Amino acid sequence: MDLAGKKIVLGLTGGIACYKAAELSRAFIKAGASVQVVMTKGALQFITSVTMQGLSGQPIFTDQWDARIGNNMPHIDLTRDADVIVIAPCSADFMAKLAHGVCDDLLSTLCVARPASLPLLIAPAMNVEMWQNPATRRNARQLAEDGIQLLGPAAGEQACGEVGLGRMLEADQLLAEVIAAFQPKTLKSKRLLLTAGPTFEAIDPVRGITNLSSGKMGYALARAAREAGAEVLLISGPTALPAPFGVQRVNVLSARQMHDAVLAHVKGQDIFIAVAAVADWHVANSSDQKLKKDASGSTPELVFAQNPDILAEVAALPLTQRPYCVGFAAESENLLEYAEAKRQKKNIPLLVGNIGHDTFGKDENQLVLFDVEGHTSFPRADKLQLARQLIAEIAKRLT
Ligand code: C5P
Repeated sequence: MDLAGKKIVLGLTGGIACYKAAELSRAFIKAGASVQVVMTKGALQFITSVTMQGLSGQPIFTDQWDARIGNNMPHIDLTRDADVIVIAPCSADFMAKLAHGVCDDLLSTLCVARPASLPLLIAPAMNVEMWQNPATRRNARQLAEDGIQLLGPAAGEQACGEVGLGRMLEADQLLAEVIAAFQPKTLKSKRLLLTAGPTFEAIDPVRGITNLSSGKMGYALARAAREAGAEVLLISGPTALPAPFGVQRVNVLSARQMHDAVLAHVKGQDIFIAVAAVADWHVANSSDQKLKKDASGSTPELVFAQNPDILAEVAALPLTQRPYCVGFAAESENLLEYAEAKRQKKNIPLLVGNIGHDTFGKDENQLVLFDVEGHTSFPRADKLQLARQLIAEIAKRLT
């Protein structure tokens, strides 16, 4: 549970997107947090306090003069043991208030009165013209300068029928952003490129050869790197997984496409992690037309040709152009021996070994890290937890 023990003050201001806040409060609770909802008068026009209380399991605060708090100071007491304040949705009006330190209701006063170290995250939600208005642009810049983190907004169709920037992020995206806010920023302003998933080598237009890989470990690493503050580009073979929020993805099919995409984007990258299960060979005599079964029972003769070794090629770039390279190795036996030999052969500083074949498609994994000093084991754990540990190890080696 990524938010276990965290106390979140969830503020709602007026906007259609209040309906998403209901789902968000549930998502926070499912992730282990406790949620104290505070609503403005505007928010109460869009969703009732009954709904929010039912979902958050705690009485809602809407009024600065709420006598339920002993000292009658909810604007102080509600944030003193909080770990984060999240305003979702955050209206244009509320952004303007925050930018100017206005205190004219409980939520705005509570934000101004928060301890300086308490993170404040806002999820803007408004019509595209409101978002693009010079006053809102100015307020957004001011809020960023004041250390308030803006989550979104996204672009798309809006409740009013207009299209553009101003949609509030979805609950699952906001959850990922709030979880990320609690992760150490060990890769701040670093650029990280990674490959993930299998590759697919065509035999004909409807058939092909692929490797077993769900992409889960690579996608977890992409997410963990983004959480750590990196700008992440994911070159992905075919998987069913959605790109982690905030991660840019380039989709490829074959090993040669993956190779070309990596080499096209490797310039300026600080780190390259090759997680993909790249096919070693492609079918040299693949057919443009579907191969037909013939009555005689004869079978096609496939001719294989070797694929480029993407990782070895990146690791062989001149020192000034070479990112810090990390490889993966899935071995069914003799991991210690094979993995270290592979690290040296590919000439990379860090190689991560998967133990056995029981990790494919699973949410858990067990890793061994190999570097020049020897090897370190990471016991079996959730792939995202392992990914965070691995990102921390990579960050340590970069400094
Ligand atoms: O040589 P082997 O396939 O076992 O090496 C695995 C590592 O090399 C992984 O990090 C994988 O992503 C990378 N690799 C690559 N290009 C290939 C084959 C493997 O980048 N053609």
